[in-house]
Amino acid sequence: MEATMPRKALTWSMLMGFASFIIIHAYAENSGGGHRFSGGGRFRDDMRKMQEFKASLIRHDSISAAPPPSVSPSPSPSYVDPPPGRNSARVYHVTSYGADPTGERDSTDALAEAIADAFRGPTEGFLIDGIANLGGAQISLEGGYYRISRPLRLPAAGVGNLMIHGGTLRASDDFPTNGYLIDLSASSSPNENEKTYESSISAQLSSSSSYNYEYITLRDLMLDSNYRGGGISVINSLRTSIDNCYITHFTTNGILVQSGHETYIRNSFLGQHITAGGDHGERNFSGTAINLMGNDNAVTDVVIFSASVGIMISGPANILSGVHCYNKATGFGGTGIYLRLPGLTQTRIVNSYLDYTGIVAEDPVQLDISNTFFLGDAYIVLKSIKGVANGVNIVNNMFSGSNKGVGIVQLDQSKGPFKDIGQIVVDRNNARGMNIKSTVGRRSVQGNGTSWTIDFNPVLLFPNFIKHVQYTLSTGGNAFPNHALRNVSNNRVVIESNVAVPASVFVTVDQGVAN
Ligand SMILES: *[C@@H]1O[C@H](CO)[C@@H](O)[C@H](O)[C@H]1NC(C)=O
Ligand SMILES: *[C@@H]1O[C@H](CO)[C@@H](O)[C@H](O)[C@H]1NC(C)=O
Ligand SMILES: *[C@@H]1O[C@H](CO)[C@@H](O)[C@H](O)[C@H]1NC(C)=O
Repeated sequence: MEATMPRKALTWSMLMGFASFIIIHAYAENSGGGHRFSGGGRFRDDMRKMQEFKASLIRHDSISAAPPPSVSPSPSPSYVDPPPGRNSARVYHVTSYGADPTGERDSTDALAEAIADAFRGPTEGFLIDGIANLGGAQISLEGGYYRISRPLRLPAAGVGNLMIHGGTLRASDDFPTNGYLIDLSASSSPNENEKTYESSISAQLSSSSSYNYEYITLRDLMLDSNYRGGGISVINSLRTSIDNCYITHFTTNGILVQSGHETYIRNSFLGQHITAGGDHGERNFSGTAINLMGNDNAVTDVVIFSASVGIMISGPANILSGVHCYNKATGFGGTGIYLRLPGLTQTRIVNSYLDYTGIVAEDPVQLDISNTFFLGDAYIVLKSIKGVANGVNIVNNMFSGSNKGVGIVQLDQSKGPFKDIGQIVVDRNNARGMNIKSTVGRRSVQGNGTSWTIDFNPVLLFPNFIKHVQYTLSTGGNAFPNHALRNVSNNRVVIESNVAVPASVFVTVDQGVAN
């Protein structure tokens, strides 16, 4: 019974493809030639009508395409009840497509077929323009462990409200090393032999949206890239959820997010090697666990336990919260979080845990790092590219180290000094076994004479840069001298009086007062 199902589905889909093909031609003929798929609102309306019509055909067919009533005296009840997991319900059980949950046989074709069926399933209107609503369809991995030799892709862009969940995918030994186990991109791979009319038409339909997919959820998945390529790629998609996933053995990226927005990565574990720290091969860890090349994404409650770079960010307006990076120690060349978008950072890193690995930010402009714990001499580097640092808050963090004199925040000025500095607050951090660095200094000195000098270099982050000084000269009694601020050059504050007196001088300096 079950073995015949994929064949039946294929037949329907071929019918569908043929029906859409005819409709497209009818439209093309009515529109009087020219570019069938040129842009514009009219085109989009036509495409929408076509997609709705296609959807209604599918809905209609799921009833009418059932086998004709049996003439036998005892009709089979299975005629009225569609088989479980197919047709009526929208949970596509991959084993009923022949996927092997033991991982012995390759399951690529079976999984692709289940995904294609979900893609062809009934739709309920649209999400954002051009994204057909699959109504919450689910591809269930049924708790199985599946081996695949090609990336799993949707046949074409232009659908949303779909979930893939509940099992393990492992790349086989011939998986393409530039591939991703789950690939939410628009283009189908050129060597994929199932380029049907339907998928090519759907690809053209999808050109009416500026996004590939919307509201795709990947949940409760273990993704094992088998040291061949990456885990998940999300290209130009909207409102994608990656939730409770364990992604390992990647060589490129565990998760790649490019363009689109609002990919939410939650409650997940990523590591190139399965280790819990103190790994002898740590020096050799490579790859990037999460690569965000887009904006408006969130990484929340995620552990990165092995990778050269934990999270690489090259798009603005992302937020990281509750992220624990122990992917590769700074001493071995690793980076916890790398912000590579000089001049437009707009990133918040909050409530996180950088564990023997730090944060690097190139020319930070609008960056907030707060309420985060740095362990094992982990520190923050502000790296000058064009010398800009503006709108930076590094506040309320805790640092713990091993008394090697490591500064909690450091400058990398190997490409030139920071020279455009403003609105920076590095303050209210605490450190044990590390050197506090700050944009605010508060110190006092006692002396007996006409000159008091306080050197703020041990604490101030930027060299030779004091924007604001406040001081009090306290003689504690009889003397009442004239006194003045004489010099702030080289982060050294000099106060002088007109007569020699015993006095204490209290000074507060600030490098980050608003421009
Ligand atoms: C790290 O890589 C080097 C060079 O590939 C290799 O010689 C070394 O054995 C590796 N170390 C570990 C601990 O795997
Ligand atoms: C300050 O210095 C003067 C002269 O150098 C000396 O007479 C005076 O006792 C000193 N006062 C204190 C409090 O050390
Ligand atoms: C301030 O001190 C520096 C040495 O630190 C000196 O070169 C400079 O001339 C001083 N400026 C003034 C106005 O005294």
